[in-house]
Order: sequence, then structure tokens, then C-alpha cells
Amino acid sequence: MLRSDGAEIALAVQRWRGDAAGDDAWLLDRCTGPVLDLGCGPGRLVAALARRGIRALGVDASAAAVAQCRARGAAVVRRDVFGALPAAGRWQHVLLADGNIGIGGDPARLLRRAAALLAPGGTLLVETDPDPGARWSGTARVHTPDGAGMPLPWAVVGAAVLREVAAGLGLRMSATAAGPRSFAELHVEPGTGGEEV
Ligand SMILES: C[S@@+](CC[C@H](N)C(=O)[O-])C[C@H]1O[C@@H](n2cnc3c(N)ncnc32)[C@H](O)[C@@H]1O
Repeated sequence: MLRSDGAEIALAVQRWRGDAAGDDAWLLDRCTGPVLDLGCGPGRLVAALARRGIRALGVDASAAAVAQCRARGAAVVRRDVFGALPAAGRWQHVLLADGNIGIGGDPARLLRRAAALLAPGGTLLVETDPDPGARWSGTARVHTPDGAGMPLPWAVVGAAVLREVAAGLGLRMSATAAGPRSFAELHVEPGTGGEEV
């Protein structure tokens, strides 16, 4: 992926195509009820949750990603995460894995959207940049051997920055994990959730 600031990022395509493994457990172990995986890619997390007996649905705008989900038996809808989605307001957990907090290039907008999909008491599970202070937004193009895709709005957020952005939206960070892959769990503060701005 080539970002508008010139940074080149190697995408974890092999991980996306494989089965859930390793640090994915941090996300999977926190899912105790119905899960919506935003930007699910080929659906490894959706498939792993289903194997654990947890109802999970992937959402992805890409036809290729949706086809790969279906090939592995993962439930998926081909939608934009900002469009109409099934069971809005009734999901126990919403996943933004593998840098997907970057979708749309405006993390506050995406967090508001994701929080509005949750049932009362639900959690957002977000993969953050390993650098807690990372904060970038711009556009990015995915380059493949077949050429470059369209520039898409994208963002990068570390855990400290996410805590700050989330607090401004009435979301409380209740757990984090730091490492080469870093994660955060967010709860909607009572009295502030459920409405998209
Ligand atoms: C970084 S990949 C994530 C891979 C996936 N989470 C996984 O673990 O395999 C980003 C995914 O988000 C999807 N995506 C990007 N913008 C989207 C949007 N606005 N609505 C739905 N899906 C989107 C892309 O098609 C891509 O599959």
C-alpha cells in the first residue's frame, strides 16, 4: 500500500487469507455474543468465531473478499460499512481488525458508526498501530502485480490516540494489548451511545 505521505506499507495478505491464529486470539476470546466484523476481508475471524459457536457476520465492500468468505463458509454481506447493515444496534461486539480503524480516513466517524451498531453493553474491538502515538490520515492506494487501485481515504491510529479520540465520543477504553499487533477494547459510556452523529 502506498500512502499519500509516501510511506510504503506491506499488507498482511497471507494472514488475511489464512486461518485465524496467534494474536487473533485476543480478539476472538473477547467475543461472547453476536459479532459484526467490519471490513472482514477473506473472513478468517468470522469463520473462527462460527467454529466457536458464536454468531458472526462479515461486512466487506470488495467482491473478491466476499467471494473468499463464501468459499470458506463464512457468513458475509457485500456492503459499505457506512451503509445500511443488518441488525444495527443489536451486535454484542463489532470488530475493526487489521488496521480497519483506517477505513474511511476519519477514525472518529468510523467509531461513531461502529458504536451505533452495538447492543447496549456491547464492545468495539479495535486493532491499533503498534506505535501508541501513531496518528495519520490521508489517502492510500493498494498496488498489486496487476496495477494500482483507486486512492482510498485511510488512517492510522495508535492506542494512546485512540483513547483520546474515543473519550471525545463517550467511549471508554477498558483493555489494551501492546506488541507487534496491538489491540484495544472500547465500551460505550452509559448515556452516550447508540446515536450516530
Ligand atoms: C486491511 S483489510 C482487512 C482484512 C481483514 N480484517 C482480515 O483480517 O482478513 C481491509 C478490508 O476492508 C475492506 N473495506 C475497506 N473499506 C471498506 C468500506 N468502506 N466498507 C466495507 N469494507 C471496506 C476492504 O475491502 C478490505 O477487505
